Amino acid sequence: MQGPHSRMTGALESFAETMVPVSALRPGDSPRVGGEDLEHVRALAALETPLPPIVVHRTTMRVIDGRHRVRAAVLRGDTEIAVRFFDGSDADAFLLSVQLNATQGLSLSPIDRATAAARILESQPHRSDQVIAAVTGLSRRVVASMRKQIGVSATPRERLLEDGRTRPMNALAGRRRAIKLLKENPRASLRTIAGAAGVALGTARDVRERLRTGRDPIPPRLRELARRQERLRSKENDSPRTGSSGENPTMIKSWMVDELAYAGPEHLDPAFVAGFEAKQGYPDPTGDLDVLTGSGLNAESTVVDLGAGTGRFALAAASRFRRVVAVDVSPAMLRYLEERVADAGLANVECVRAGFLSYAHEGPPADAVYTRNALHQLPDFWKALALERIGGILRPGGVLRLHDLIFDFQPGEADQVVETWFAGAAEDPARGYTRDDFAEHLRTEFSTFRWLLEPMLAAAGFEIVQAEFTRSVYGAYTCVKR
Ligand SMILES: C[S@@+](CC[C@H](N)C(=O)[O-])C[C@H]1O[C@@H](n2cnc3c(N)ncnc32)[C@H](O)[C@@H]1O
Repeated sequence: MQGPHSRMTGALESFAETMVPVSALRPGDSPRVGGEDLEHVRALAALETPLPPIVVHRTTMRVIDGRHRVRAAVLRGDTEIAVRFFDGSDADAFLLSVQLNATQGLSLSPIDRATAAARILESQPHRSDQVIAAVTGLSRRVVASMRKQIGVSATPRERLLEDGRTRPMNALAGRRRAIKLLKENPRASLRTIAGAAGVALGTARDVRERLRTGRDPIPPRLRELARRQERLRSKENDSPRTGSSGENPTMIKSWMVDELAYAGPEHLDPAFVAGFEAKQGYPDPTGDLDVLTGSGLNAESTVVDLGAGTGRFALAAASRFRRVVAVDVSPAMLRYLEERVADAGLANVECVRAGFLSYAHEGPPADAVYTRNALHQLPDFWKALALERIGGILRPGGVLRLHDLIFDFQPGEADQVVETWFAGAAEDPARGYTRDDFAEHLRTEFSTFRWLLEPMLAAAGFEIVQAEFTRSVYGAYTCVKR
């Protein structure tokens, strides 16, 4: 029987081989936990025959497969290397890298395979067990049991394409993604759109043609399917649901945002999570605990930490308050947090995988909600809804303690404030936020202005008791729910 791997590598072999300068390549996202094997590099460099082509992600120039061959080429002084290009999304490129590394050359160790599977499950939970098993070389049973352990739900509606890309079996979802991408990037090539949306080139072409000629980009057959799905959704909306932690009935509305998609890709990456507290400079939560105690909280109180991350605040809060609920949307953060809670033997900290918009509080209303450096992940519309939901978690008189990158200046002052802010950036990304980190924050995340946030707080029923700003870019608020 021909497995997905042989079909895929077969398809890769049909891609044209090109010579590319070694200096144009960027290091790939390797699934090898232990890094490169220098012995293997030396052995490859000593070969007198040309090395087989490496595989490179065309849009990022990252090496998907062949890191050892690149090192060997450098060692023997080659300036060019044979490359086969892969066109597809970053996520598919990582999948392909795992698959190629798992099955050829210096094979992946069992630890590499399991780590790669865990990483795919956490960062791409929609991948089916079948696809993850095929790319890592683990059995489906093992992947299914890892999925259970990690606690991500399955949506096994995709298949592996022969060229190494995956395609959702849901044609409607793929087409909708292509429509959105084409509208956002009208000049992107069809190959790029097809890769990023996970649809066939023909589908991307059809969507573009329909958009160009003003026709509905969804053909009648799929429109009927969409109508049926909508009917099903509204039926589900009508039936009562019990709110359990992590389940918010609004989540099934068609217009609901996918919080995981906004969570910041670094927060989904176990390697980033492991270095997160060092990067943060191990902030001391005592000041915030004192603010809450000073606002009337005591040993009988309940506190919810939204976007809890690695749990620096939540763990410290456990010694002052009766019940602490630490909520985070990232499976990687939550796993780290759960381990720390278990290590510390804390029985009064509950870890819940959910987001601002999906967390459903159980038990008596909370006395305080704490959230630090997380609300900016959501665009303003969703921030306002999140604040409204926070209000719903709290008892009247309950406290919201909020820290975030919030901008206390006018748009015309942006250049000057940003320059001053960047001047204080860290040099070492492992020990702080660098200029690049700040720039990326501005480009891709949703920090808002103070003069927009404060009306949102008021609209959600909060009275601002105290607001402090540092360098006009970092705000700390204490608010009381009226
Ligand atoms: C910069 S970290 C801050 C973590 C922690 N509060 C701290 O101060 O150390 C942001 C956290 O928010 C989480 N996050 C992102 N979007 C979220 C959402 N919509 N709901 C809940 N948590 C979210 C991320 O997974 C990450 O753990």
